[in-house]
Amino acid sequence: MKRIGVLTSGGDAPGMNACIRAIVKAAKANNIETLGVYEGYKGLMEGKMEVLTANYVDDIIELSGTILKSARSAKFKTEEGLKLAVEQAQKHGIEGLVVIGGDGSFRGACDVSKFGLPVIGIPGTIDNDIAGTEYSIGADTAVNIVTDTVSKIHDTARSLIVDMPRVFLIEVMGRGCGYIAVTSAIAGGADYCLVPEIPYDVNEMCTHLKTKFENGKLYSVVIAAEGATGVNELKKQVDTILNIDSRTCVLGHLQRGGAPTAFDRLIASQMAVRAVELLMEGKTNRMVGVIAGKAVDCDIFKGINDKNKISQEIVRLNNILIS
Ligand code: F6P
Repeated sequence: MKRIGVLTSGGDAPGMNACIRAIVKAAKANNIETLGVYEGYKGLMEGKMEVLTANYVDDIIELSGTILKSARSAKFKTEEGLKLAVEQAQKHGIEGLVVIGGDGSFRGACDVSKFGLPVIGIPGTIDNDIAGTEYSIGADTAVNIVTDTVSKIHDTARSLIVDMPRVFLIEVMGRGCGYIAVTSAIAGGADYCLVPEIPYDVNEMCTHLKTKFENGKLYSVVIAAEGATGVNELKKQVDTILNIDSRTCVLGHLQRGGAPTAFDRLIASQMAVRAVELLMEGKTNRMVGVIAGKAVDCDIFKGINDKNKISQEIVRLNNILIS
């Protein structure tokens, strides 16, 4: 194997650059050249790629986002687009492709592999909803950002003496997955958490917050995953039930920026090295993950078809800690 390609696709995640860097270095250690494909599958179709040297990628480890950019392409989903992508890969001598992204990106990789190009997927999404791995690249950074925000809200909230419950509603990312919400609720010491996977009752939540207030906790913080509810809608309900004027905060894309945590850099590097090894072993349609600190791999269809279920242990822990 002389040359491999790497692309990032879908939503970017902090740590993707650390992953690209490690791919280039692992390939170089085996005398393999890495082509960086710009703008995801769109760039692959258009032949937008160049050789990434170890020197060039050496100090991108602390950069967030992706130096290769990401894009959405309707054309790639057509027969014509797919053929174009494969032709470009062949023209540029790509013998194996590493795709960093989520389930949609892995689906694209599978389509490409049908034309004989070996592909390996690396999970990169702050949502941490991809099966086959305990962590996807970016999730830890996002959780740290939310945790830090909760602490900042605590700083201001604890200063004010009030005679009505002061409630802060924080909306975090996670359309179908409450991982960011529940882990940062525990780490940040939130008073309640709403996730899409578990039905909730706003009345019950308000009773809980009111009881805490009556017991002397003048303020409370609620973390809601966007997939559970938007905080503007939640505010209307909470304000009516408690007869207060709660405060809202939508963290949005703040959660996808900032320097990746050491943990995200570490797992990104681990998964990158394993991905290169898999290509060298002649494997295809595999997805790399990290389980119990070790780089592992499984069928890429697991990453496409299954979702990481919210950990019941974490949910139980949160239920104890919010009291
Ligand atoms: O990266 C995953 C995710 O952050 C989701 O949690 C979120 O709903 C979505 O991407 C939003 O991303 P965009 O605005 O780029 O489509």
